[in-house]
Amino acid sequence: MNTFLKALEAELNDRKRQGTLKGEERVIEKILAPQNGFGPRVLLKGQGQTPFLLFNSNSYLGLRHHQELLTAAEQAANTYGLGPGAVRFISGTCLPHIELEEELARFHRRPAAMIFNSAYATVLGVLAPLISSATMVISDELNHNSIINGLRMAKPASKKIYAHLDMAEFEARISECIGQASRLLVISDGIFSMRGDHAPLAEITAICKEFAAQFSEGILTIIDDSHGVGVFGKTGRGTEEHTDCKADLLIGTLGKAFGVNGGYVTGNQTIITYLRETAACYIYSNPISPAEAAAAKCSLQFIDSSQGRERLGRLRNRTRHLEQGLIALGYQILAGDHPIVPVITGDSKINRALSTFLFNKGILVTPLSHPVVPRGADEIRLQVSASHEQKDIDYLLGMMADFPDTPS
Ligand SMILES: Cc1ncc(COP(=O)(O)O)c(C=O)c1O
Repeated sequence: MNTFLKALEAELNDRKRQGTLKGEERVIEKILAPQNGFGPRVLLKGQGQTPFLLFNSNSYLGLRHHQELLTAAEQAANTYGLGPGAVRFISGTCLPHIELEEELARFHRRPAAMIFNSAYATVLGVLAPLISSATMVISDELNHNSIINGLRMAKPASKKIYAHLDMAEFEARISECIGQASRLLVISDGIFSMRGDHAPLAEITAICKEFAAQFSEGILTIIDDSHGVGVFGKTGRGTEEHTDCKADLLIGTLGKAFGVNGGYVTGNQTIITYLRETAACYIYSNPISPAEAAAAKCSLQFIDSSQGRERLGRLRNRTRHLEQGLIALGYQILAGDHPIVPVITGDSKINRALSTFLFNKGILVTPLSHPVVPRGADEIRLQVSASHEQKDIDYLLGMMADFPDTPS
């Protein structure tokens, strides 16, 4: 045991030396209600009464604290209890699970949907059963870790990676698979979480259509739009709505814009029925709680209402205000419609200095350096929320203006 623990300690020390150790997590002790024209703040353990502003949350629509969702969760918990009590096929399926699945299918205009206990579990659960030993896979180089690990576990005949969003390379990779596989699976993030950019779904599906006849079982397209659903596209239907194009299967999370927790896949009825019979993460693992399912259904109905669209408009305005302010200050950003606003510093030291500077001013952001992003592409990821007030954005901009080493 001693030598085993020493080996683990040595690895942790290595990570510390290389600067890749995640270290201690920050503990949120309390969430403070909006006041004086500012949005909500949090108190962190060990930081006394300093209120912190979150620019590192995926709760893009600010629904995490929405009263209607909390009431829906409370009512479901009172009716069904807290945990589901068992996996779905034993005795863990409650009415809120079914109602949520029906609502998700309706929202995404598809025949069927099934929920998992996270989007990560959804990706693992979906990939393994749909990848046979005669399946080849094409994947964007910046796809999320769940896809990278899901493909490792699923063991396709071969996996081909193309440069981020590079459609010429994408097409070349598909050509290389002709005659080598009976089934081709194409998978991409919808919105890419480090950059806030999106998959060119119209081009991807057009190229797949052109090549589908070259594979006896065709080409299956899967988009994981965990960061896109709820906040991207005219009515929050994500990358598919923005590009006016659909993948065969869409994966999403209930834990970001929805403000709750869990994951789901939606698509063709036969595929969903097949996945209920074969996806290990679904069969052998508890579903989300009935309270989470009821809250997520409520969230979906809110997003798909005039109030939801109003909130989306507010989020877009806040995002635009921040982007324009950063550009005026001379920061290099990746601008777009999505509330992820990457500030490119291109230098790990500046990245660390800027995030520490902001922390000392009561602002939480996400610094991303190699190996999470390519060398020289260091960035501070800012995430805007509809719960931010104009004053919050102006406060952040004021602090960014005060940073002495603005990268040029
Ligand atoms: C593309 C993508 N898929 C999956 C996930 C994981 O989502 P969850 O927390 O629901 O497992 C994330 C989270 O960042 C993501 O960006």
